[in-house]
Amino acid sequence: IQAEKGGYKHFMLKEINEQPRAIRDTTLGRVSLDSGQVFLPDLKLGPEEFRRATQLTIAACGTSWHAALAGKFMIERLARLPVEVDYASEYRYRSPIASPNEIGLLITQSGETADTIAAQREMTSLGIPTLAICNVVGAAITREAHGTITTNAGPEIGVASTKAFTAQLTALFTLALYLAQQRGTAAAEHSLHLVTELSKIPGKVEEVLRSVDDACANLAKSFSNARDFLFLGRGIHYPIALEGALKLKEISYIHAEGYPAGEMKHGPNALIDESLPVVVIATQDPTDPQSVLKYEKTLSNIQEVTARSGRVIAIATEGDHEISKLVEHTLHVPAAPELLLPILETVPLQLLAYHIAVRRGCDVDQPRNLAKSVTVE
Ligand code: G6P
Repeated sequence: IQAEKGGYKHFMLKEINEQPRAIRDTTLGRVSLDSGQVFLPDLKLGPEEFRRATQLTIAACGTSWHAALAGKFMIERLARLPVEVDYASEYRYRSPIASPNEIGLLITQSGETADTIAAQREMTSLGIPTLAICNVVGAAITREAHGTITTNAGPEIGVASTKAFTAQLTALFTLALYLAQQRGTAAAEHSLHLVTELSKIPGKVEEVLRSVDDACANLAKSFSNARDFLFLGRGIHYPIALEGALKLKEISYIHAEGYPAGEMKHGPNALIDESLPVVVIATQDPTDPQSVLKYEKTLSNIQEVTARSGRVIAIATEGDHEISKLVEHTLHVPAAPELLLPILETVPLQLLAYHIAVRRGCDVDQPRNLAKSVTVE
C-alpha cells in the first residue's frame, strides 16, 4: 500500500499531485496546436446532429455534478447550445420533457453510479441519445452511450474525487470547443488561442501545486477548528465554490456551504461573524470584460464580509495585489481565460481541505459513511 501511494502520505495527496498529467492525458490527441481543431472520434453522433441540437441535458452526482455545472458555462458560452443540469438522482422524478434534437450527457468518474445509470435509462426511454464523460474504460454507462470522452486521469483511489474532477473540467472544455466548431459559432474562430491556452494548463497546475501547498498547510493551522465554512463564487466559479465546500465536508467533517457570492445578501450574510472563515474565489481574466465585471462585483461581496468581521481567504489571480489589502489571506493562481480558471482554482481548495482534514486526524482516503462508487439508488 505504501508503495502504491508513491511516497505520498495519502492517495488523495498523490492524486492531487497527479493532476498535471491527468489533464495533459485528457487532451492528448484530441486537440491540434497547429490548427486549433478538436477531434473527438469516439462520439457516434455526427456534425449534423450537433448542428441541429437544441438542448444538452447533463445528469451527474456529487463532484461530477459540480463539473456539469461548470460545463454549462463552457458549452453555452462557446457552443451557444442551451444546457440543463440535473442531479441524476432527481432527473427521473420530475417528468422530464424531451425536446426534439436534444442530446443527453452523463458525467461520472466510475461509470457505475446507480442514479446516473437510472438517469441514462430515462433519457434513452425518452428517445434522447446520450454521451458520456467517464474515467473508467468499458464501465456500464459507456456501454449504453453513443460515445464517450474518457478522462484519462487513471485510477482514483481516494474516496473524495480530485484528479477525476479537473480531468472532467478539461474534457468539458474540449467538448465545448468541439461543439463550437461543429456548430460554427463565433467562438470557434478563436480555437487556436483557446487550444493554446488549454495546453498551458498542466504547467500552470504544477505552478499552483508548488506555490500554495505550504500556505494551505499554514491556513489549516488557523482554521482547522472552525465549526462552519462558507465558499463563495460567481458565474463559473460558483460550481467550484460548491466543490470546495464538498471536499471540506467529505474529508474533515466540518460543515461547509457553497454559495453564489451575489446571493449572500439574501440570507447567508446573517451567518457572518468573526469566527466564520469565508473562502472567496475572486480570480479574473483581465482581457475578458465579462470576467472583470464579475470580479469587481465579487470584490464588493468581500467587503461586505470583512465589514462584518468575517475572515476571508481569497483565491486570486497572480499579480492581484489589490485584493491582498482587503483580506487576511490570499492564495494566488496564474492567469488564464475565464473558462479555464476553474481548473486552477480547484487545486488550492483541494489542498486546503486536505491539510485541515489531516490536522483533525481524519481518515482522508476513506471518510466515514462514504463510498467511492455508489451502486445503489
Ligand atoms: C460518490 C463519491 C463521489 C462522487 C460521486 C459520483 O458519492 O464518493 O466522490 O463524486 O459518487 O460518482 P461518479 O463515479 O458517478 O462520478
